[in-house]
Amino acid sequence: MKLPNRSSVSRREYLKAAVAVGGTAGLAACMEELDEDEPIPTGGESLGDRQHAWNETLELDDDGNHQPPKHHVLRYVNLADGIAPADAREPFADALESLSDAIAWGPEGLLFTVGYSPAYFDRFDEPLDEAVDLPAPQELPGPESNVTLDSVDLVVHLASDRPDVLLEAEEGLFGEAAATNGVEIPALDGLFSFPEYDRRTGFVGAGLPADNQDIRGISGEPVPDEAPFFMGFRSGFAESQPTEDRVTITEGPFAGGTTQHVEKLDIQLNAWFNQENHHQRVAKMFSPEDAREDRVEGVGENLGNATEIVPEEMEDLIEQAREDGVVGHAQKAAAAREDGQPIILRRDFNTTDDEQAGLHFLSLQEKIEDFVTTRNAMTGAAIADGSGVGPRLNNGILQYIFVRNRGNFLVPPRELQSMPTPTGTIE
Ligand code: HEM
Repeated sequence: MKLPNRSSVSRREYLKAAVAVGGTAGLAACMEELDEDEPIPTGGESLGDRQHAWNETLELDDDGNHQPPKHHVLRYVNLADGIAPADAREPFADALESLSDAIAWGPEGLLFTVGYSPAYFDRFDEPLDEAVDLPAPQELPGPESNVTLDSVDLVVHLASDRPDVLLEAEEGLFGEAAATNGVEIPALDGLFSFPEYDRRTGFVGAGLPADNQDIRGISGEPVPDEAPFFMGFRSGFAESQPTEDRVTITEGPFAGGTTQHVEKLDIQLNAWFNQENHHQRVAKMFSPEDAREDRVEGVGENLGNATEIVPEEMEDLIEQAREDGVVGHAQKAAAAREDGQPIILRRDFNTTDDEQAGLHFLSLQEKIEDFVTTRNAMTGAAIADGSGVGPRLNNGILQYIFVRNRGNFLVPPRELQSMPTPTGTIE
């Protein structure tokens, strides 16, 4: 990935590209472009035990929905050959603590989580505490093929509204910067190695997808200006997100933590926009009834803090699919709710990694099983078996999205965020 010629792209597009390029070159481009002396807010405040407690720092939009940070980087990291978790524990803890000292916790500063995979825990003699549900990632039932199952040791999710802050944080942690916002971050030389596709980047928020639609395979400029996501609709309404409490592990040494699923999806945007009209897109994304009743205007600006979808049992969805010949994505996903609440907290973001429109679908849940339950509802295999709807065709948005990578992680409570043991003991 190279930086585009400054004069040929918009400012937003250039800043997004700077994040995708990363490193000192990306950071320099960002600083030059922003050319503002806006200081980076300094951290050091005491943070609670939940790494995933982001909501209280996020702004609310006019409808009361949490606004996710605009820019994101996922860094995939392995322990280097010959390095045991115990060797890296203290240096990594110092580095993470220094990062929190350097930059304030919040979207105007930095939000981050560190998550550990089943492969990380496999190296220990003891099994992972039984209160944690963290199976190895797998291909799931439904039309999937060639999914790479990520087996990297850990993933660091960094997020900020400010691309310069994001890159400075990343450089401080993994690069060669002497200081981050004036705070020295101890170097982690030799402790880590980096797999192929170790850096995944993205963005979310009104305007950013439209500004970044000039990519392979997309003709014209189909993405609406105000859309926060590539497929053209608002998402993450307050009523279709669970609370952070709902996705927090409540028992055992990892209480206060959560599990994280990260999935890379390619999106066939050209087909979505050019083969379908607004009515069909609403039917497939929300529900056929929403389309019939014209309930979704534009990108969904009229929707407030909820979709109009009333969660239904799978049986009723099969019946409805027989009548309408189509079933909506949000409708199917809502069938997985428990006690009226969704069971996965979505913090997904758009990407143009590999010059391909896509989504890094990142969700938090108490158990990975909650993700699998929701994903199976979204796949709607029973609907495909029991109606004229196909495994992909007219089955929500499945015709347009293709899973490329998938990984599962444990995001431990903060005191165990550096190289936890499977039993949570602090050695
Ligand atoms: C390109 C991919 C995707 C797009 C564009 C997308 C978009 C949307 C939209 C527009 C909604 C309704 C509005 C809202 O968020 O409140 C929604 C709901 C939802 N989606 Fe997706 N989604 C995608 C992939 C996924 C995946 C992979 C999952 C994983 C299972 C998922 C799970 C859900 C859930 C749980 C809901 C809320 C249902 C409820 O109201 O209970 N989505 N999505």
